Amino acid sequence: MNARIIGTGSVLPKKVVTNFDLAEIVDTNDEWIVSRTGIKERHVAIEESTSSMATEAGKKALEDAGMTAEELEMILVATVTPDYVTPSTACMVQAAIGATNAVAMDLSAACSGFVFALNTAQAYIRAGIYKKILVIGVETLSKVVDWTDRSTCILFGDGAGAAVVSADAEAGIQDFVQYTDGAKGVALQCDARQHKNLFGTRAFENEYVQMDGQAVFKFAVRRVPESIQKLLDRNQLTAEQIDLYVLHQANMRIIETVAKFLKEPMDKFPMNMERCGNTSGASVPLLLDELNRAGRFKRGDKLILSGFGGGLTWGSIYMIW
Ligand code: COA
Repeated sequence: MNARIIGTGSVLPKKVVTNFDLAEIVDTNDEWIVSRTGIKERHVAIEESTSSMATEAGKKALEDAGMTAEELEMILVATVTPDYVTPSTACMVQAAIGATNAVAMDLSAACSGFVFALNTAQAYIRAGIYKKILVIGVETLSKVVDWTDRSTCILFGDGAGAAVVSADAEAGIQDFVQYTDGAKGVALQCDARQHKNLFGTRAFENEYVQMDGQAVFKFAVRRVPESIQKLLDRNQLTAEQIDLYVLHQANMRIIETVAKFLKEPMDKFPMNMERCGNTSGASVPLLLDELNRAGRFKRGDKLILSGFGGGLTWGSIYMIW
């Protein structure tokens, strides 16, 4: 059995921050940001929280799937920006939607989070343990970004995306690859919490997101095409046979490089980073939901999903819609 996506949902915070807004805060400009990243604006959570966005996206995905919350056996939430250390965001979603028969847990893999969570759902379904799982990618990066650091604050945005997967004998996830390289984790870092107790205090090293932009860029343009090629080879597919590539929305130039490597046209690489920025673990499910609701998928379509980012982490999925 495979995990097949039968419903999707997403949510973006109400507040929109444009590049022009950022140019009033830090020394930057719209032309620099658009040419380097493809990003024009991003949504920033003010009234919303990680758990409230995860809940709303999850509810929409359930509605799209025509499934009740009670039918769910598992809830997986990928996030690096939870509201609480405990309870997990997944447990908060469980309570909010009334998924009384599900077990809920969070998974941390930064921008690869949703892809890794979907692979985890696939493993549970393949093993015959569960049949109906809600997978959510959600982030409130705005609370861990230094809004005075022009090299990072221009990149990120907040949001949530969700997918309901159910066991299917033929369609769904056919194969996946996933990797981590902890030794290179220093390229993208953020402390979790200040080390402080009765006996001493250790200052934050990276209170906010710190990134070696060029190292991350080089990692992505090498590892993402490599992981996709591995999946294609292993499944005797050519790049041309894939209908759509749904890649993590970090940067337009990274996606262009992947398209060039695969010798595929850019219209097979849909993008929404222009409006959403890099929403980390939420970007793949957000884009999936937008495409699904726009009617871009039909039964039998072959898709590649890819996530990459902090950890370092990266992975790709080959699925039949
Ligand atoms: N506006 C204007 N200038 C900026 C700027 C901004 N927002 N941010 C940095 N600069 C400046 C730098 O200070 C530097 O100036 P200097 O030459 O006077 O020192 C110059 O622009 C070039 O900086 P550099 O870091 O070399 O830019 P870059 O071409 O590598 O682009 C990124 C920066 C972040 C856009 C690019 O490295 C990138 O996209 N990396 C991948 C990041 C990513 O996707 N991370 C998430 C992965 S999940």
